[in-house]
Amino acid sequence: MKNTAVTLRPMSANTGMMVSGIDLREPVPEAAYREMRHALCDRGVICFRGQDLTPAQHLAFAKLFGDVPPAEFLKTPDGFPEIGIIAKLPDETRNVGGNWHSDHSFDSHAPLGAVLLARELPESGGDTLFANMGSAFDSLSDGLKEMLRGLRAVHAKAQSWHADTRPDRAVDAAELARVDEEYKDRICVHPAVTRHPETGREILFINPTYTSHFEGWTYDESRPLLEDLFAHATSPENSCRFQWDEGSIAFWDNRSAMHYALNDYHGQRRIMHRATIYEAGTA
Ligand code: SIN
Repeated sequence: MKNTAVTLRPMSANTGMMVSGIDLREPVPEAAYREMRHALCDRGVICFRGQDLTPAQHLAFAKLFGDVPPAEFLKTPDGFPEIGIIAKLPDETRNVGGNWHSDHSFDSHAPLGAVLLARELPESGGDTLFANMGSAFDSLSDGLKEMLRGLRAVHAKAQSWHADTRPDRAVDAAELARVDEEYKDRICVHPAVTRHPETGREILFINPTYTSHFEGWTYDESRPLLEDLFAHATSPENSCRFQWDEGSIAFWDNRSAMHYALNDYHGQRRIMHRATIYEAGTA
């Protein structure tokens, strides 16, 4: 039988697990599925190489883990509305996901995760970084953990434009006003510390792209603590970096990891296919 000798290798001390010895075009035996699901939840991301999947095979693999609704905000390949195309073309400067974030944290039910498959890559650059928000929380002091357990954080889609003022991403005041209006309903308050639904581990559930402030605190009061926590969570010790090949997959657990798509390949083309997974009934 195929896929019975899956090997798992940590990608760094706390984050990421490289999975080999598996061909995702073939059926995934129950034992391999359980090992991968455990690694996903525990390490925040599992990565694969050499997976030359058709869109149908990509979708079928993602559906093993939960519901996959049509992709929001993205173009999709013909016949596969569930697969979002994440593209950056040579004449573009802004990429998708170019700052630390958890997908859709501004929604009441954020996704379980996403299976991202590399289709076309730049000659160099375009790596993706991941940070485990379970180990980020574990490694805080008991005093800070206790304070954070009592806080709730505001997440807004429009915050992503306000938060990022780097020259290749900053937008003018008119564009900020437009996104504030367009996304005024895409805002949600979550506990700053959540519990992972599968492992029970406490998770620091905030991110630099969408989290604006703590509920009941002003923006200015919130930012220093948020910025300290973001720096702590994204430290080299708590993160890993995945360098893509065509046919590579990164499958992240959006409940316990943040990710960051590096935007260091201007003038080149990078095309990825993403299937976003939700826990049953939450899409
Ligand atoms: C994303 O944030 O979903 C995009 C990640 C990537 O393109 O590496």
